[in-house]
Amino acid sequence: MVKKGAIIAVVIALLTALAACGKSTETSSSSSGEAKKKVIVGTDAAFAPFEYMDKGKIVGFDVDLLDAVMKEAGIEYELKNIGWDPLFAALQSKEIDMAISGITINDKRKQTYDFSIPYFEATQMIMVKENSPIKNALDLKGKTIGVQNATTGQEAVEKLLGKGNKNIKKFETTVVAIMELLNGGVDAVVTDNAVANEYVKNNPNKKIKVIPDSKHFESEFYGMMFPKGSDLKAKVDEALKKVMKSGKYAEIYKKWFGTEPNLDKLLK
Ligand code: ARG
Repeated sequence: MVKKGAIIAVVIALLTALAACGKSTETSSSSSGEAKKKVIVGTDAAFAPFEYMDKGKIVGFDVDLLDAVMKEAGIEYELKNIGWDPLFAALQSKEIDMAISGITINDKRKQTYDFSIPYFEATQMIMVKENSPIKNALDLKGKTIGVQNATTGQEAVEKLLGKGNKNIKKFETTVVAIMELLNGGVDAVVTDNAVANEYVKNNPNKKIKVIPDSKHFESEFYGMMFPKGSDLKAKVDEALKKVMKSGKYAEIYKKWFGTEPNLDKLLK
């Protein structure tokens, strides 16, 4: 018969091992035995429905997609809400390993960062009060326009009104830009379509409407962003493709947007 003492010793050893597992949040052992760091992913969680704070947790379409992709790739990660402007600096200094934040892939950013394959199609739209005289992008001339600093929304407005135009008001977050619209501090906000639509849907009492203008706002594609040369890109791309083809992407898309995605356009 096995001694009671021996059993207790084994149980204690097991519990100690378990406790150690729970504690090691920063590192984990890879199959080859060497310690590997958790991948740190940065975001600006003030951009519903892509990423926003809900009861102290970061949630949204990007958050669910990231989780599906990282699970598929077998990568352990931690998502951190660090804000929009700091995202770019933190990636460049490799303080974080990647970013997901409704980030539009464009040539300027591609000079400094690497991007995953595109995972979402978007375009800029105009948010105004329901009684606003603004009907399209050209009507923005002479009006004050709120944008989130260093976004493609800012770029789109600069293209229309000229860079450095004093009527372009830049805010740290899209949420603050929308607050300014409500307060009458700006006449319009230019931001990504899904974000504008989500706000109007969730705040019918605020009397805000969304104006599309496909003539002046081009189609944009979101990608996950990496420091240049990151070896994460290939792994993430492969997993992202699998998630798109397996039906998981469509499931997440339907949860957040209520419709079927057009995957052909993203995968071509
Ligand atoms: N798509 C736009 C851009 O890349 C806006 C993204 C803003 N994202 C955010 N989480 N605040 O410039």
